[in-house]
Amino acid sequence: MIKLSASQKLFPRAMKLNIPTRPFGRTGFEVTQLGYGSMGLRGPRTWGVRVVDEAKAEILLNQVLDAGINFIDTSPDYGLAEERIGRYIGHRRSEFFLATKCGCVYTQHADHLEIDHQWNQDVVARNLETSLQRLRTDRIDLLQFHGGTAVSLQAAGLIDQLLNFRNQGLIRFMGVSSKLPDLPALIQLGVFDVFQIPYSCLAPEHHQVMIDAAETGAAIIIRGGIAQGGPDAVIQRPALNDVWNRAELDQLLPKEMSRAEFILRFTLAHPSCDTTIVGTCNHDHLEENLRAAAAGPLPPDLYQQTQERVARVLSV
Ligand SMILES: NC(=O)c1ccc[n+]([C@@H]2O[C@H](COP(=O)([O-])OP(=O)(O)OC[C@H]3O[C@@H](n4cnc5c(N)ncnc54)[C@H](OP(=O)(O)O)[C@@H]3O)[C@@H](O)[C@H]2O)c1
Repeated sequence: MIKLSASQKLFPRAMKLNIPTRPFGRTGFEVTQLGYGSMGLRGPRTWGVRVVDEAKAEILLNQVLDAGINFIDTSPDYGLAEERIGRYIGHRRSEFFLATKCGCVYTQHADHLEIDHQWNQDVVARNLETSLQRLRTDRIDLLQFHGGTAVSLQAAGLIDQLLNFRNQGLIRFMGVSSKLPDLPALIQLGVFDVFQIPYSCLAPEHHQVMIDAAETGAAIIIRGGIAQGGPDAVIQRPALNDVWNRAELDQLLPKEMSRAEFILRFTLAHPSCDTTIVGTCNHDHLEENLRAAAAGPLPPDLYQQTQERVARVLSV
């Protein structure tokens, strides 16, 4: 195990920030509103240009838990991410709620990982078996379909299959990671404990459907909650920057608040945000995000003004 130097220790335990927590739907668990998305830990020969090595993955995952974050999202098709979670924090399994996914078919090529999603029982069974091994655990807290429609999941008997896993104690809860136009029919099924949905002030189109999903008693995980870092991101997303600029959100930005903090605290202000699984592989960003979460949601008037400005630019 790697030893952390003083500068790599995020916050000494005594100084741990107070990250707000929320009841996670009807699960009975209480989760930190800032969660951790592990897609960035996928490793080499996958996709994207940035690669996190083993030493950094170990440090980062332990920093996440040391800081008090108690929710981690991963997937079988995130390269090395599941293996790294198992290897580096498997021994701390009781400290976090563990969410992974299924329906994932992946092929490792010499230079990249090819990913597909298929809705049949063999794939789902293989995913669960592999995830349990890689994550070094005997139970997944939340197994999410990585997409799929109400029709495709039902037709293949996959909902019954997950209920069966639950009865066997292999998973605790079932969910789906989805978006429009598939969400309303998935919500209508009335079987999911959790929905994972994309949302931020720069991509707010799922605002209402998250409220609809939460009204069924389900918990809501927001992904993309920091809008990939917004205008100050290392990897620039011109379409998101364009929304920021056209809505002139710099005019609303309080003094001494970074744009990333503003975006994250906007997401935390959504009434249905139980947790947002922000991905980062950067120590300073993790610290910034923890401080933002501890500062809490944006004040209601700022949240509303931001919504109005963005709605105006997205409607033209
Ligand atoms: N279909 C699905 O189910 C699905 C799809 C996508 C994602 N996900 C899940 O959701 C998680 C998050 O999704 P995402 O990565 O698309 O969205 P995100 O969390 O909004 O964006 C992550 C990006 O934001 C940057 N970032 C984080 N904090 C920052 C800060 N303070 N300042 C500047 N940049 C910052 C990170 O770069 P640095 O490393 O430089 O900080 C990273 O590139 C994933 O890890 C995965 O678990 C699920």
